Amino acid sequence: MTTSKASGSFPSDFQWGVATSAYQIEGAASEDGRGPSIWDTFSHTPGKVVEGHTGDVACDHYHRLEEDLDLIASLGVNSYRFSVAWPRVLPTGRLPLNPQGLDFYDRMVDGLCARGIRPHVTLYHWDLPQALHDEGGWARTDTVHRFADYAELVARRLGDRVESIATFNEPWVVATLGYEKGIFAPGLTNRRLAMQVSHHLLMAHGLAVRALRAVAPRVQLGIVLNLSPSYPARPTAADRAKAHLEDGLGVRWYMDPLFRGSYPQDVLEHLGADAPIVRPEELRLIQEPIDFLGINYYMRNFIHAEDPQAKPPGEQGFTDMGWEVFPQGLTALLTRLARDYRLPPLSITENGAAFADRLEDDAVHDTKRVRYLEQHIAALAAAREQGVDVRGYFAWSFMDNFEWASGYLKRFGLVYVDFDTQRRVLKDSALWYRDFIAAQRPWQSSAVAP
Ligand code: FCB
Repeated sequence: MTTSKASGSFPSDFQWGVATSAYQIEGAASEDGRGPSIWDTFSHTPGKVVEGHTGDVACDHYHRLEEDLDLIASLGVNSYRFSVAWPRVLPTGRLPLNPQGLDFYDRMVDGLCARGIRPHVTLYHWDLPQALHDEGGWARTDTVHRFADYAELVARRLGDRVESIATFNEPWVVATLGYEKGIFAPGLTNRRLAMQVSHHLLMAHGLAVRALRAVAPRVQLGIVLNLSPSYPARPTAADRAKAHLEDGLGVRWYMDPLFRGSYPQDVLEHLGADAPIVRPEELRLIQEPIDFLGINYYMRNFIHAEDPQAKPPGEQGFTDMGWEVFPQGLTALLTRLARDYRLPPLSITENGAAFADRLEDDAVHDTKRVRYLEQHIAALAAAREQGVDVRGYFAWSFMDNFEWASGYLKRFGLVYVDFDTQRRVLKDSALWYRDFIAAQRPWQSSAVAP
């Protein structure tokens, strides 16, 4: 296998990792005191997740922690990104603490450190405790305070050993898919509410960063955004204007308040009465300085003014999600962000692809995923060569898992999971990634093939 195309020039301390999230892999949904989250409720609601799949068992990672950590270590990564399940630590979202829940993440962090892998924690990967949702959830500012309390509690226990803490994973997905489109938990369809929720999520981020800074001053603090560049389908004024608005809703709506202290005016006008209520001191809170920005990149947006279903050309193919493979969009996105904002160091906290993998003779020849990773790492290297300060890359995902509304039908893993037996098998992409990382550090490598 060749690694030359993607190699670029990466420093020896570059963070090479794999990523997961709690609800997608842990299972043990009602064990050891864990409380329910909105994703338990949503996945158990008929018609919400394909074939009625739930995260009740998922990859059974909660019971297979040590063997999974060994498998992660076998890839040669120096970093691992995982999320803490709020309802495992605080079953109702607030005190009292569930000690067994926090112990699990303590073992995780110790297990990673023992294997020479740096832990990167995400505090909120979509699993709001159901009890908080029942009290009004992200529609209320009380939840903002509960989140900051939870953040502080986790940092007090893990902050001496973790490398980074991200407050939120993809607030756009939480707000828009959860509260406006209704396709993710909690399944609501109210744009006015969704926009207020997006503001509350950013407030919770700022408040948590303040709390975290006080208790874990040496930990890198940040947030993870899903950002896609928007391309007009045709070179017309109408398509351009729509693409600019889409960029406003998806990119500038989050980037501007975090790094400029205001929401984009054109988007506020577009939203009209659906714009959130925002106080000036809340904007100062959201601008609280951070140490890194995590970016999850999967594809571009292809914007046609009249046809929302317009299909991009897909010259480099499509994934099993129907997402266009568009690696050059990553270079374009990164260079544009570095031009438009004063940024902290960046990290690609998720990038990857679902394909219809087949296990044959104990192997999975996922050549399309290998190519996807290679192309995107090359696109990242190109951005770095143009001066963008990107310090990490995390492949999504370590292993096949519960892909939200798509259940177990979409496989994103570098490791194949047989969900009947919980057997894990390294796909070719895992072997490729292992060899690629080893080639970046020839002096450390034992796994690399000549
Ligand atoms: C991202 C999510 C992650 C996974 C990938 C495919 O939006 O953060 O949990 O579902 O998409």
